[in-house]
Amino acid sequence: MTNNTNLLEIRNIDKSFGGVQALSDIDFFLEQGSITGLIGPNGAGKTTLFNLITGLFPADKGEIRFGGRPINNFRVNELVRLGIARTFQNVELFESMTVLENILVGLHTRTRCGIIESIFRFPYIRREEQQARERAIELLEFVGLQDYADRTSTDLPFGWQRLLELARAMASKPRLLLLDEPAAGLNMSETGRLEELIRKVRDQGVTILLVEHDMNLTMSISEKIVVLDQGRKIAEGPPREVQTDEAVMAAYLGKAKS
Ligand SMILES: Nc1ncnc2c1ncn2[C@@H]1O[C@H](COP(=O)(O)OP(=O)(O)O)[C@@H](O)[C@H]1O
Ligand SMILES: [Mg+2]
Repeated sequence: MTNNTNLLEIRNIDKSFGGVQALSDIDFFLEQGSITGLIGPNGAGKTTLFNLITGLFPADKGEIRFGGRPINNFRVNELVRLGIARTFQNVELFESMTVLENILVGLHTRTRCGIIESIFRFPYIRREEQQARERAIELLEFVGLQDYADRTSTDLPFGWQRLLELARAMASKPRLLLLDEPAAGLNMSETGRLEELIRKVRDQGVTILLVEHDMNLTMSISEKIVVLDQGRKIAEGPPREVQTDEAVMAAYLGKAKS
């Protein structure tokens, strides 16, 4: 049944790599404007699910719907245009570019001009470029990096690179934002700042799917938690229910039991 308050629907998804069944029969929905935590031990299939949703490779079986529309065979750029953005478990910035340029690349998907037009520099292009710079600065202000606009992105401390990646993801004006371990490598105060930012993004109406090992962060920020273990969904529900779920505790602690 399609419920129009569900922005993303994951239905009976299977994905294997050679002999490894990375995902089996995964099924859950993301309610519009909500924050959902996707957790599970290493190798559970979390990043694989992100890669399927963002069009890096197709599912073997099942359906992914975004805004009620099947998106299984959409390519990465089409999905960005539709409103799906992500950050990566291992931060992926354009290394030789400045902080500001990294944001401008993210904004490019939203401006009309192509390469040829940029070369001839029609007046409306200059206007667009000016607007893009202003918007880029706003996005840097949003994550607190406005004073570092002209630094080479990879010269920033790692925690700041994660914030820059978040700002770049926001440049495409996403409706759905997938965050893959955004707090990994952050200290406590940076994690606090990240939590505040994620809430602000959600308050702008963006739906968020969060993969994160920091359980304090995940449990405090998520309305719903989906738990994967070895490619299967083993639990789904509000944080307080999932935290006391026996199958979940067994998956996290019980590796020693088996
Ligand atoms: N591109 C890939 N090629 C081959 N195997 C992969 C690939 N991506 C993931 N896997 C395998 O799929 C399983 C799930 O991995 P992953 O989705 O990265 O888990 P998680 O993000 O939950 O730690 C692992 O066994 C992993 O080795
Ligand atoms: Mg992962």
